[in-house]
Amino acid sequence: MKILMIGSGGREHALIKKLLESDKCKKIYCAPGNGGIAKDAEIVNIGAMDKDNMVKFAKDNAIDLVFVAPDDPLAAGMVDAMEDAGIRAFGPNANAAIIEASKVFSKNLMKKYNIPTARYEVFDDPRKAIEYVEKENTVPVVVKADGLALGKGVIIAQTIDDAKAAIKSIMEDKQFGDSGNNIVIEEFLTGPEVSVLAFTDGNVVKPMVSSKDHKRAYDNDEGLNTGGMGTVSPNPYYTDEIAQECYDTIFVPTIKAMKAEGRPFKGCLYFGLMITPNGPKVIEYNARFGDPEAQVVLPRLKTDLVDICEAIIDEKLADVDVEWYDGATACVVMASGGYPLAYKKGIEITGLDEKGGVDGAIVYHAGTKLENGKFLTNGGRVLGVTAKADTLDEALDKAYDAVSKINFEGAHFRKDIGRTK
Ligand code: AMP
Ligand code: GLY
Repeated sequence: MKILMIGSGGREHALIKKLLESDKCKKIYCAPGNGGIAKDAEIVNIGAMDKDNMVKFAKDNAIDLVFVAPDDPLAAGMVDAMEDAGIRAFGPNANAAIIEASKVFSKNLMKKYNIPTARYEVFDDPRKAIEYVEKENTVPVVVKADGLALGKGVIIAQTIDDAKAAIKSIMEDKQFGDSGNNIVIEEFLTGPEVSVLAFTDGNVVKPMVSSKDHKRAYDNDEGLNTGGMGTVSPNPYYTDEIAQECYDTIFVPTIKAMKAEGRPFKGCLYFGLMITPNGPKVIEYNARFGDPEAQVVLPRLKTDLVDICEAIIDEKLADVDVEWYDGATACVVMASGGYPLAYKKGIEITGLDEKGGVDGAIVYHAGTKLENGKFLTNGGRVLGVTAKADTLDEALDKAYDAVSKINFEGAHFRKDIGRTK
């Protein structure tokens, strides 16, 4: 098969490396890809949102399977565009990707179908939102922009004044553009967070092994929220008992709800969960593999990923036995100095071999480019250095050992991945 991966980050690199393990995969293209991906796939210079050129490329090159990995092209209907052209594509249609693209949609869905989540109200008028937070007068309070905002659209306000400022900056100053036309104001929950990615064909749902993301920029969960500074799998807080409860009260009801709404979800559905004192609750849904969750979950997948993708497209996931390796994985993200705020690009990375890897670990490239045979930094999150072992401690040791061999000016990584709540 000829496969086209759409996207350019560490997640896409992890997906490509897993797809290459399949006997069925003869050739992989990636649009637009990055410097490390260029060592595993043929790079295609088409932007991830360019539906017309992407469809044309897929047709001209007789692509058998298109894998749409990032949220924006999914929400913009990339899968629909491929299907309209008779091309098989993995990922939800736009009418299902809305589960991530609109928090108003997902909160209302959970309310309607009794899926546990934080209590909330929706506002389209900043004055009413401000009146509401003043009247409720409880902090912390969580203010969320409705639409996609590069993972930055959630503000946890510690004072009523901060909440009012957040409402103004999202709704009046349009900090996140039209994503802030509507907002959700919700109850602040506490407890460990768990990421569970799940395969689903719209009818059955098969959860993958659990993982844990570390979203804050600095050690001890300090600093700004990022796209994710590192992950481990399994998540130590996700017991078998909690997994069963999540399956019964969250996973299956969500898949049924989407089907009942005429929006069957096919692809990878990401459940961002919090294990609260009152049981597991949904913090957010994503319509795709998480990044860097994919980097720790996929190395543990035993079953052929191409077979799973095909079964999902054909709505035959019930027939596939999805199997996993025991043990544990850890991914440490090496980021550019300054990320998630301003950072420099184009800095040479040393310590990588010719293929962009190091001994003892898998190096997934997130923000790199290749120039004259050298790898240069080209994004905020640069590399996801990942290791697999029998235990989490060993996986962490191996990952940090590999990180110590890699360097670039300003490189920043967390030293406590897998060690915090
Ligand atoms: P989201 O983009 O919805 O995943 O939110 C980003 C992060 O904000 C989450 O990973 C949580 O750490 C935090 N968060 C979101 N909603 C809540 C909530 N209701 N209570 C506590 N923390 C939250
Ligand atoms: N790591 C969180 C996400 O992919 O949204």
